[in-house]
Amino acid sequence: MTAQRQIIVRPRRIPAAFSVAFAYPVHFTRGVFAPDNPLLADILSASDDPPPRRAAVFCDSGLAAAQPGLLPGIARYFRAHANRLILAGRPVCVPGGEIGKAGNRLWQRIARQLLAWRLCRHSYVVIVGGGAVLDTVGFAASLVHRGLRVVRVPTTALAQCDSGVGVKTAVNFGPGKNLIGTFAPPFAVLNDLDLLDSLPAAEWTAGIAEAFKVAIIKDAAGFRFLCRHAAELRAGHRPILEEMVVRSARLHLAHIQQSGDPFEFGRARPLDFGHWSAHKLETLSRHRIGHGQAVGAGIALDSIYARLIGWLTERELAAILSSLRAAGVRLWYDELGRRDRRGRLLILDGLRDFQEHLGGELCVTLPQRIGRKQEIHAMDPELIARARRQLQQFAGGRAARTSSPAGPC
Ligand SMILES: NC(=O)c1ccc[n+]([C@@H]2O[C@H](COP(=O)([O-])OP(=O)(O)OC[C@H]3O[C@@H](n4cnc5c(N)ncnc54)[C@H](O)[C@@H]3O)[C@@H](O)[C@H]2O)c1
Ligand SMILES: [Zn+2]
Repeated sequence: MTAQRQIIVRPRRIPAAFSVAFAYPVHFTRGVFAPDNPLLADILSASDDPPPRRAAVFCDSGLAAAQPGLLPGIARYFRAHANRLILAGRPVCVPGGEIGKAGNRLWQRIARQLLAWRLCRHSYVVIVGGGAVLDTVGFAASLVHRGLRVVRVPTTALAQCDSGVGVKTAVNFGPGKNLIGTFAPPFAVLNDLDLLDSLPAAEWTAGIAEAFKVAIIKDAAGFRFLCRHAAELRAGHRPILEEMVVRSARLHLAHIQQSGDPFEFGRARPLDFGHWSAHKLETLSRHRIGHGQAVGAGIALDSIYARLIGWLTERELAAILSSLRAAGVRLWYDELGRRDRRGRLLILDGLRDFQEHLGGELCVTLPQRIGRKQEIHAMDPELIARARRQLQQFAGGRAARTSSPAGPC
């Protein structure tokens, strides 16, 4: 027998580096499912695949209840464009709001349905609904065959101006919010302003809070616009609300494109200003407080904190708080004052959760003058407690007033 030569594999490094370009259009339209509006059909037909293109449609149950003509209208749209489009099955209603994001049941049911319809990576999933439905169905669609083509049709102000135009999906799992999810840029986003006709006032307010959030840290002129029109926002003045949605979506998209970190590999999450406490408020209230509502209180709390460390002037803080209130955003929830047995504020756990979610060092974005931001890597619990007391005083002492904002607006 010949002696085998011994092969020794030396340690070595084989580099692997590549980049993938993502691009998706965000359209503002009206009557997206009106048969004579070709936008959706054009978008689904844009690829080289032979027609007709297959699409599954999922619709938010709250929206379907508020607009009973919508589901038949969607089916009519597909019939009108039968030469180019085909429905994989009857549009499916999924529970709207946070309840559908809880645990594994709904997203798994959706994934099973997508597989039962034999959708492939060249098929489309059209999701019509609020941020929670976009998150849940989008999550399932991002996993099936490692990712189907998703066309989002956001139907709340918050989803049109913020969550629906971004690149993330998530469901709530275990103890916290959005603990399981994916980065999954959509194929396209179609913001139909007419779909907001049935939106309840509270959901408009959620969008207003997110619009203030992004303006305070990125757009001084946008902030002045919101201050100037706070009373109209509260009164439901439609042209102003729509202008707010478009401006805010544009800021959000500019951030995704220009930040250099759309998939959040780094620590900074500027669009999550006010969110460390907002996410905690949502879970402490068992989601009685919605995401946008919690964000309103969260940005108010962090703005006071920014004032306490000298990053905002008294005048700027007054403008933020009074404009938020004038726009109808609620700034105080009793959950902000809840304590554990040892007397520690429960809201403070939100900082730990936030840090765990991001990994590494804590990184919280605060405004540094209006329209600018800065990251901070530690927050003083004493100062948070002071900010909390000041917020309670402001909101409680004068909560009933709806006067026009003071300050530089
Ligand atoms: N993926 C992300 O990047 C991201 C970012 C921000 C927020 N979010 C998530 O978005 C969710 C909040 O979304 P949201 O504010 O859109 O609320 P939502 O999805 O919870 O919807 C609120 C309510 O409005 C109903 N509804 C939706 N459209 C309607 C319409 N046009 N008319 C009448 N009722 C309608 C829904 O059925 C629901 O009852 C949270 O779960 C939050 O975590 C995700
Ligand atoms: Zn948010």
